[in-house]
Amino acid sequence: MTKTIIEPFRIKSVEPIKMTTKAEREALLKAANYNLFTLKSEDVIIDLLTDSGTSAMSAAQWAGMQVGDESYAGSPSYFRFENAVKELMPFEFVMPTHQGRAAERILFEVISKPGQFIPNNTHFDTTRANIEAGGAAAVDLVIEEGKNPALDHPFKGNMDLKKLESLIAEKGAEHIPLCMITITNNSGGGQPVSLENIRGVSAICKKHGIPFFIDACRFAENAWFIKQREPGQQNRPVKDIVREIFSLADGCTMSAKKDALVNMGGWLAMNDPVLEEKCRNVLILTEGFPTYGGLSGRDLEAIAQGLREVVDEDYLNYRIASTTYVGNKLTEAGVPIMRPVGGHAIYIDARAFLPHIPPEQYPGQLGLRPYTEGGIRGCEIGTVMFGLAPDGTEKIAPMDLVRLAIPRRVYTESHMLYVVESVLEVFKNRDKISGMKIEWQPSALRHFTAKFSPKNAANDVNLDNGPAAVRG
Ligand code: F0G
Repeated sequence: MTKTIIEPFRIKSVEPIKMTTKAEREALLKAANYNLFTLKSEDVIIDLLTDSGTSAMSAAQWAGMQVGDESYAGSPSYFRFENAVKELMPFEFVMPTHQGRAAERILFEVISKPGQFIPNNTHFDTTRANIEAGGAAAVDLVIEEGKNPALDHPFKGNMDLKKLESLIAEKGAEHIPLCMITITNNSGGGQPVSLENIRGVSAICKKHGIPFFIDACRFAENAWFIKQREPGQQNRPVKDIVREIFSLADGCTMSAKKDALVNMGGWLAMNDPVLEEKCRNVLILTEGFPTYGGLSGRDLEAIAQGLREVVDEDYLNYRIASTTYVGNKLTEAGVPIMRPVGGHAIYIDARAFLPHIPPEQYPGQLGLRPYTEGGIRGCEIGTVMFGLAPDGTEKIAPMDLVRLAIPRRVYTESHMLYVVESVLEVFKNRDKISGMKIEWQPSALRHFTAKFSPKNAANDVNLDNGPAAVRG
């Protein structure tokens, strides 16, 4: 029997990649002040900055866009979207939004207020920011195993149920307007949550009368992990697992830019008619009429079709296999990464990769080197991203990681092999990589625009070898 898991699609339409030389990339990076966000994407060979909004759509999705109906109210495209969502997530009400964070903003604006607490396994940044913007506190309750990058555990995204019970006992259920769980746990390494854990969180919330919502961005990848790893789930269709997950919740927020296989979109869904009315009013005010939210009819069609495709088990098998393939090749060569490999990304443990660089010198900027080496763009998730406190002081992040997020259906196995080779080349020369310093930074969200320079450029084989006169 053949062993190779192939991409379960053929390529009908292609986007050329502009190839660059190492010397060109060194110059481009210097001109971009050593910030990968400042680069033009056409100067990137393999873009692993995010898996969000970067999926390739299928022929059926493009065809669906042609029949998109752009009526302001009551468009048939909305009803096709609504049916496709409810087929997987059986909630009473579904409101389209322009992306995931818009659903979060509406939900938290309506449901939370200062002095309240909102638990999650690990809040994604936009979720946390939307909660904090309204004055409530975002509390992370992931299991201890989920915080140890090297430790193997099948469901490192699980919430610690004892910690959830203690939080409720300590703060009082009346101060917890909502409990969330993020599947898969993006900020915790793309790690899945078990069905048993979701059942547990649901039961605790029910007992205390707390609404339970799911941050559903990568629900299909999470369900695939449940099918692979959770005892008793092996013979169930993924679609059944998905339906059970959502039948345990009172609502969800969704970024369609991930597991709906589209480039833009999201939704907010729920069962409670009182909450729905309040959310609908904010939706109309800020996103649009409830049958289009922030989206065009054609976007709704693409989502409806994407949802049918994302629960296809041949697709999921290939999707998770391709992420695992990169992760396992790096692990075999000794590169420290978060284990086990998550669903949508590989997270390199930059502190373990560069033990000679103290966190104050931003080891997560290791991500610059796969760019100069092979034109690969990842994303620092560490002290640059989280380390600037609102009072302007520097705060070391718990971990310094480089995320290589894999867009859905975009790259082939040889692209991935090229990524592995480039990272291994960097790993070979890791002793010579220098720390970085910040030359300029804004007062918030510094990772997007900060300007850097190498601490010791002369010694660094991956930086500064290019032409000197291109500093931006
Ligand atoms: N929740 C999770 C778990 C996410 O990963 C994201 C986005 C959002 C919510 C917000 O959705 O972007 O549609 O507004 N994550 C992207 C990423 C940006 O790169 O991980 P959005």
